[in-house]
Amino acid sequence: MRRKIVAGNWKMNCDLSEAEHLLAELKRENLSKEVSVIVAPPFTNLHHAFESLKESEIFVTAQNMHQATSGAYTGEVSASMLRSVGINIVILGHSERRAYFGETNALLAEKVDAAITANLTAIFCFGEELEDRKQGRHFDVVKTQLSEGLFHIDPSKWSHIVLAYEPVWAIGTGETATPEQAQEMHQFIRETIATAFSKTIANEVSILYGGSVKPANAAEIFGKPDVDGGLIGGASLNAKDFAAIVNAFGN
Ligand code: 13P
Repeated sequence: MRRKIVAGNWKMNCDLSEAEHLLAELKRENLSKEVSVIVAPPFTNLHHAFESLKESEIFVTAQNMHQATSGAYTGEVSASMLRSVGINIVILGHSERRAYFGETNALLAEKVDAAITANLTAIFCFGEELEDRKQGRHFDVVKTQLSEGLFHIDPSKWSHIVLAYEPVWAIGTGETATPEQAQEMHQFIRETIATAFSKTIANEVSILYGGSVKPANAAEIFGKPDVDGGLIGGASLNAKDFAAIVNAFGN
């Protein structure tokens, strides 16, 4: 049985006191036990978030990391540094990293390797832009992102991977993929993995949908058979909305 996961990507929001407040509110919410709940605060809050949540069932993930183990990479953070503050999950390849920080599939392949070597779970993000969809090449784009970023890994390492399909045109825009569009792509992703690796691996990997998920649309999207949860941006900054999204899935 693959895991149901709802992860909140805070992006570059919440200083330490805002994070303390949001985490305290989140801990007061009744969250479904059927769902693995994850929050992704900025680097400066990771240690605090880990300490604050360690008695809870909420996990903490980083939003990014560098591919090298250490060295002269000013401003960067390594996998072992994440582990040293209790973090064992990392988001890789978010579309904002790809668009604003030049992250390519080749670079992401290196980051995936570094995460696996450090025994982290990687939430690997990918998704097409609006123009790709308009031109009807969204399946090809997604297949290339998967194959160049991820398909070099050893089959035994797939337990370290969670996938997050985030169509760029749906991120922060209020425009959500329809549940049918999400299902169609998630099914395609699973088939692509089955062909490249095996049916067992394809059936066991959790595939999250991200892009304007809100309490009002979560249940319908999560109701699709190949959608195993969500990566939530804006709505994860409000504890009540985030809890409603988690519980839309688990109940
Ligand atoms: P929104 O939910 O704000 O559209 O963001 C989605 C996202 O990018 C999550 O990583």
